[in-house]
Amino acid sequence: MSYHGNFQAIILAAGSSSRFKTSLSKLCHDLCGQPIIAYPVRLFAEHHIPVTCVVGYQKDAVITALEPFAFPDLSFVTQETPKGTGHALWCTKHRWERDHIIVMYGDMPLIPSGRVENLIATHISTHASISMVTFKAPDLSYKGYGRIIEENGVISIIEERNFTGDRSILYPLNAGLYIFKRSFLEATIGTLTENSLTGEIYIVDLIKQASQSGLTVSLVEAPFDEMRGINTLDELAHAEAIQQTTIIKKLTAQGVRFIKPETTRVDFNVAIEPDTVIDPHCTISGETTIGHRCRIGTGSVLQAATLEDEVSVEPYSIISDSLVKQGAQVGPYAHIKKSTIGEKSTIGNFVETNRSTIGEKSKAKHLSYLGDAVIGNHVNIGALTVTCNYDGFAKHQTTIQDHASIGALNALVAPLSIGAGALTAAGSTITQPVPNDALAIARAEQVTKEGYAPRLREKVRQRAQANNDQ
Ligand code: UD1
Ligand code: CA
Repeated sequence: MSYHGNFQAIILAAGSSSRFKTSLSKLCHDLCGQPIIAYPVRLFAEHHIPVTCVVGYQKDAVITALEPFAFPDLSFVTQETPKGTGHALWCTKHRWERDHIIVMYGDMPLIPSGRVENLIATHISTHASISMVTFKAPDLSYKGYGRIIEENGVISIIEERNFTGDRSILYPLNAGLYIFKRSFLEATIGTLTENSLTGEIYIVDLIKQASQSGLTVSLVEAPFDEMRGINTLDELAHAEAIQQTTIIKKLTAQGVRFIKPETTRVDFNVAIEPDTVIDPHCTISGETTIGHRCRIGTGSVLQAATLEDEVSVEPYSIISDSLVKQGAQVGPYAHIKKSTIGEKSTIGNFVETNRSTIGEKSKAKHLSYLGDAVIGNHVNIGALTVTCNYDGFAKHQTTIQDHASIGALNALVAPLSIGAGALTAAGSTITQPVPNDALAIARAEQVTKEGYAPRLREKVRQRAQANNDQ
């Protein structure tokens, strides 16, 4: 919207996270594949509204958590000591440039982008000095929010610990998302005083000031689930469950079938095409994309994986940082790492591929390790084959060309190349290059002694007898 040119956002992220009881700032904790602090920043980046983030407690960690997103128009201001939300806002005074200043707390990641649009629209249409979002908690068990009290036409926000009134009343609560007219903020921010109980300077005191002076304070109500703040790990778990449901519902509406959706984890940045089916207990994380008509079997883990159309992942497989091309089959119990699996290829049970490329219609169906391997098209890898890619000092490559067939229980000692159409015998330890269309046999020759078994049994029996007689 064009009027966004008059808005800038301040996100408060300098607080000390004391209620989290973890060593890392709560704002750096992951929620469905993104640190908590990335949610509010993204919200404004999507609206092309510049953001100033107030940092302090673990400021390097917060800045680092945001770095990978390369958000445009993001700057930081340091609040040296956390003296409260009002003080944090005051620290950004030299950055106030636009007519309206949106202020939001960094610990509220569930707000949909339409909510900001609504608040901006209300702020403009009501010519308010302050517009803010309120919500109602479902019951009295939700603690820690500021209550919005209207008395004799004056609106004020009373923090939980300062509240002395009737605690059995469900008051509307303060969400922590406001828009201030810059002129109002400039005139009033310096007048805020320390709270008598905590010594902190509270943003919320500005609401009473505006209201008492007869200025317009507009309240916009929003659903509780969008406005939850995250102060404890328990609240993070609840917020994550809500975000998870939102992500899965959106994909379901686009034609992705989740069997038992409540058991599956899907991250924020995952894309899945219609007609794909996700079985129970899967974890799909990072920048994973899954094509049409795929099936992801029970208990599978996909991390930064790209699956083209019609890929079948059988149960309990792990695919990370890999590309699986159209119609390929993986698993059950396969582990694909940093690899490319070609069209219509099969990587079967208990097969691990690592930094390897497998061509089209190739097969490694049972119990193998393929590391640093470049494997062509129509290659067959027998059961229990291992590329011996590490000599104790460095990793080496194995190349297997089109239509080659590796017998079962082969040790392929890299660096090694096996030519097109070549065969290797079962149980071989291949250390030399195998030319195209050759057969390589590299195992001890068998010695067969006819009729030897009964003689051996008799020998053993006699030895046992002699021992007993002693
Ligand atoms: C705050 C509000 C409360 C509201 C609730 C909504 C105040 C005084 N209280 O309480 O009315 O209902 O949020 O979730 O504003 N921060 C700083 N510097 C500081 C202190 C905090 O940057 O000195 C940041 C924190 O990192 C956090 C945000 O401000 O992201 C809010 O602080 P927090 O301590 O979580 O406030 P609440 O007690 O939740
Ligand atoms: Ca909070």
